[in-house]
Amino acid sequence: LRSLTVLGIETSCDDTGAAIVDDTGQVLAQEIHSQQQMTIRLGGVIPPIARRLHEENIERVVTATIESSNIPVEQLDGIACTVKPGMPLSLLVGLKYARELVRRAKNVPFLPVHHMQAHALTVRMVDRVAFPFLVFLLSGGHCLLAIVKDVEDFMLLGESIDTSPGEAYDKVARRLKLKNLPECDGMSGGESVERVARRGDPHKFVDRYPATMSKYRDCNFSFSGMKTTTMRLIEREEEKHGIVGDGILPNVCDVAAAFQLSVGRHLLKRLQRCLVFIDYNDLLPKHNRTLVLSGGVACNSFIRQVIGQLCDHHEYDLVCPPPQLCTDNGVMVAWNGMEKLKVGKGIASDPELVD
Ligand code: KG4
Ligand code: ZN
Repeated sequence: LRSLTVLGIETSCDDTGAAIVDDTGQVLAQEIHSQQQMTIRLGGVIPPIARRLHEENIERVVTATIESSNIPVEQLDGIACTVKPGMPLSLLVGLKYARELVRRAKNVPFLPVHHMQAHALTVRMVDRVAFPFLVFLLSGGHCLLAIVKDVEDFMLLGESIDTSPGEAYDKVARRLKLKNLPECDGMSGGESVERVARRGDPHKFVDRYPATMSKYRDCNFSFSGMKTTTMRLIEREEEKHGIVGDGILPNVCDVAAAFQLSVGRHLLKRLQRCLVFIDYNDLLPKHNRTLVLSGGVACNSFIRQVIGQLCDHHEYDLVCPPPQLCTDNGVMVAWNGMEKLKVGKGIASDPELVD
């Protein structure tokens, strides 16, 4: 019996990704073009530039994926593409291309994919995590907590009311001018903050950070306050040390460590509220409870460690997908399409009809 195969296309932000997976979670082929270097240079994703780069790369990325899989398009069992949420200009490039492919392939179903749902389910490629489970997504674009009840059934419990943790990490990295440090060469903002924070003492400055959202009786998050606190802290320290231009603070490690600790504390406090809420409302079975932690920021080992401790305390199994499944790529989209195909849900015959 031939296994099922699905092609996935991802263009929701700054990665042009494509992959083909089978129904056992094997990746048969994958290609990605990352705009990360451009994003670092520009200090963020600029929508029309991101669109142009997607347009320049999509054909090559998808064609190379299909060719290296040796599966003709007509023999695929589904073509999946991220349709939301994301930057509209970027999303449209992938959708337009997928639409063309579906037309060319004739009888291959189209599988519209929700980017966040794809992030939430990728863990099931490598780990037999059963429904329902709790997912915690921390990345450059998102911060959310949800119960995944089924392939298409999600219950949102909390999200950031302002910026994402990844964006906060990136801003702090930029303001600390970490890309001028040779040890941070080629790293994302988050990675470089984590890198220097390891050598720092968080307690030198962590008291400068006021408690975040302590009056909010929900499971939402906020990162803009600690971002602002960090910006002010850097400004004051730079003045004190007479730093100008490209110069780097002598205590850069302590600032990074304090910022990271305050992010960690906030994540823990809100997650703990969420776990109590789940217990109180019986949202997950008392035994075999699992928290899936994913997204670019979830690659941070300090954050993993503190969340791991909370999970131990509340008797949750913590599952972290491998880093390559935490970030944006075609694989997560292909797998999400596969999950839909397997249960016969969310299949659109005509991609034109997808809103
Ligand atoms: O999941 P991702 O690759 O893309 C989306 O945003 O969907 O996440 C990228 C974000 C960037 O903001 C990057 O700085 C952050 O994840 N990041 C980290 C680490 N590695 C990547 N943040 C903190 N610590 C890390 N080790
Ligand atoms: Zn993402």
